[in-house]
Amino acid sequence: MNGRVVNVGLCGFGVVGQGVVDHLERKREMLRDQLGVEVVVARVAVRNPSKSRDIAIDVARVTDDALSVAVDPELDIVCELMGGTDKAREVTLEALKAGKIVVTANKALLCDHGKELLAVAQEFGGHLLFEASVAGGIPVIKAIREGLVVNEFSSIRGILNGTCNYILTRMTNEGASYQDILVEAKELGYAEADESLDVDGIDAAHKAVVLAYLAYGKWVDFDAVRLQGIKEVRQEDIRYAKDNGYSVKLIAMVDREREGSALRVSVLPTLMPKETPLGSVDGVFNAVSIQGDVVGETVYIGPGAGRDATASAVISDVVDAVKLLILGGPEGRFPFLDPAPRNGKRIEVARADEIESRYYVRLVVRDQPGVMAEIASILASHSVSLASVNQKEVGEDAERVSLIITTHATTEAAVSEAVAELGELAAVEERPFLMPIGDAS
Ligand SMILES: NC(=O)c1ccc[n+]([C@@H]2O[C@H](COP(=O)([O-])OP(=O)(O)OC[C@H]3O[C@@H](n4cnc5c(N)ncnc54)[C@H](OP(=O)(O)O)[C@@H]3O)[C@@H](O)[C@H]2O)c1
Repeated sequence: MNGRVVNVGLCGFGVVGQGVVDHLERKREMLRDQLGVEVVVARVAVRNPSKSRDIAIDVARVTDDALSVAVDPELDIVCELMGGTDKAREVTLEALKAGKIVVTANKALLCDHGKELLAVAQEFGGHLLFEASVAGGIPVIKAIREGLVVNEFSSIRGILNGTCNYILTRMTNEGASYQDILVEAKELGYAEADESLDVDGIDAAHKAVVLAYLAYGKWVDFDAVRLQGIKEVRQEDIRYAKDNGYSVKLIAMVDREREGSALRVSVLPTLMPKETPLGSVDGVFNAVSIQGDVVGETVYIGPGAGRDATASAVISDVVDAVKLLILGGPEGRFPFLDPAPRNGKRIEVARADEIESRYYVRLVVRDQPGVMAEIASILASHSVSLASVNQKEVGEDAERVSLIITTHATTEAAVSEAVAELGELAAVEERPFLMPIGDAS
């Protein structure tokens, strides 16, 4: 630390980086009063220094060399706000090796390299803080790490991608198709030009991996996340949900049935009971419901992305970093704090035959004699028991029907195998669509 000034370097000055500078400037006095030190953004790295920006910054502080910011001895804190995983990893590693406290909003980086980065932080006496990486402005990481520290968690369920929730909400409210709403969401800036990170559930899966680590101390491999996005959700599914007291939500789930059982990490379109907190969160908002054994259920709702919400979370980490520096005394070294001091080594990731749920299956079939019997027989051969069957004509063609089946509780392995077999039937005209049915509790 440099007298009563803490110097911060930003690698990345885009949406989030500019929000951070803007709000640090606006709240300069308040933060000085709270912390007793001045927080100064001393250096900024960007790809293109000559690009015009909404937030002005002294050109002398701007560079296109992010690594020089990472290792700058004048800086106490480095914020990695570039995105991506290659350069971001390099910058974060170099900053941590230089003993800096690194703040990042980058869930993809944490998902792919979190284990390595935290080990390096520990080895070199640095810290890695990442409040903004999950659920944007909602302080859910601090909730798990601090407020709920005495709890063991049976489940964490979340709506972690605002773009998907926005699209599903509008499909529900307006009866429009996924494709139509997506086009508008892009025009409004809610979805990126390449929407796949959002709508394929990848962004939410990165966040689920981070939550699984925090809650259970286990870095789950991204490929082990059971993942499906929202592209295949149709109006038939939305209508079924509305008519039966549900809403369709993209739900990230991290849960263990009991101590000793395997860990399920999934991101799937899910029929959520409308009366549950997650079933009723609409629009771009994120929400997280956490079941702790001591506290019971706690629920967190708020803006999960955007310049200001994300800046709010990044600045909360910057403030924590300043406190760590103050606690570290003149040397500025406070011992590494493990963000997830829970021993996840012995936890296994659940296999499909260990995951149980009720399921919803939509099939588009030619309405021929014997079809229903064939379907029932395939389900029975996989021990999948039917709870209900609904049939509706699709469009003008009276022989093409949409069959909506719900099951009693069964394993994911059984229902997936049954649905794959159903998809092979000559009378089944489109790829079957499967989603779990969430419980009210
Ligand atoms: N936007 C959100 O609502 C939000 C919410 C939560 C978390 N996040 C996370 O926050 C991070 C930043 O997101 P963002 O929306 O602010 O992204 P962005 O608007 O694309 O900004 C990225 C910034 O990083 C700079 N940059 C990229 N590669 C660089 C390199 N190799 N060297 C130097 N500078 C480089 C860019 O420079 P130029 O400006 O010159 O191109 C730009 O200033 C991402 O990890 C994202 O996942 C974002």
